[in-house]
This record gives sequence, structure tokens and C-alpha cells, in this order.
Amino acid sequence: MTSHVVGTLDEIPIGEGRAFAVDGTEIAVYRLRDGSLRALAAVCPHKGGPLADGLMDGRVVVCPLHGHTYDLITGTEVGGDDAVCAYAVSAADDGTILVETAAPPEHTRR
Ligand code: FES
Repeated sequence: MTSHVVGTLDEIPIGEGRAFAVDGTEIAVYRLRDGSLRALAAVCPHKGGPLADGLMDGRVVVCPLHGHTYDLITGTEVGGDDAVCAYAVSAADDGTILVETAAPPEHTRR
């Protein structure tokens, strides 16, 4: 796993999501009303909708384009077969947001 600092909590209003670029991948980080965080790949696999802009509750986010709905913990589509990557995300005491991604494959390391 590799940790990435993506931004700070004050960039994400409570109850919303924001997209951050991590190693060339767009990752949507959501700040739930209970203060916890979730992170999913930000591009909807259906037709590329911006999942950071989707409506969400504590469990799911709804793609703003055609309404496909993804579980905020697992990334699986609710009522469908699509899925997006889900990432571990946390906030440090100073409000810095950390997203964990899988380490790059051995042959791509320098
Ligand atoms: S692009 Fe997300 S539901 Fe169609």
C-alpha cells in the first residue's frame, strides 16, 4: 500500500464529495455527516459520470448522469453489475486527508 496526501478536510463540505488526482487517477473523497470519510474511483464505469458530484447518504453515492448507485465502502453497484475501486481513506489530526492505493507493480518501480 502507498499513502498519498490528497488535500485537507476543509476542502470538502460535510455531506459532499470532491475529486482529487492521485498518481493520474481521479479519486472521489466523501465526507459523511458523521465526520467519517469514504473514497471511491471518481469516474463512473457506465459512461464516465463524475461520481464526486453525486448525491450521497451514509451508504451509497448516486451518479449524477444516469443514477447508477455505488456502495461507499465496497464500490459495488447497488442493483447492478458494475463496480468502482474503493480506497482506504483517513484524516490526520491536522486535517490532512490520506488515501491508500495499492503499490505499483514491481516492474513499474524506479
Ligand atoms: S455515467 Fe454514471 S450512471 Fe451513467
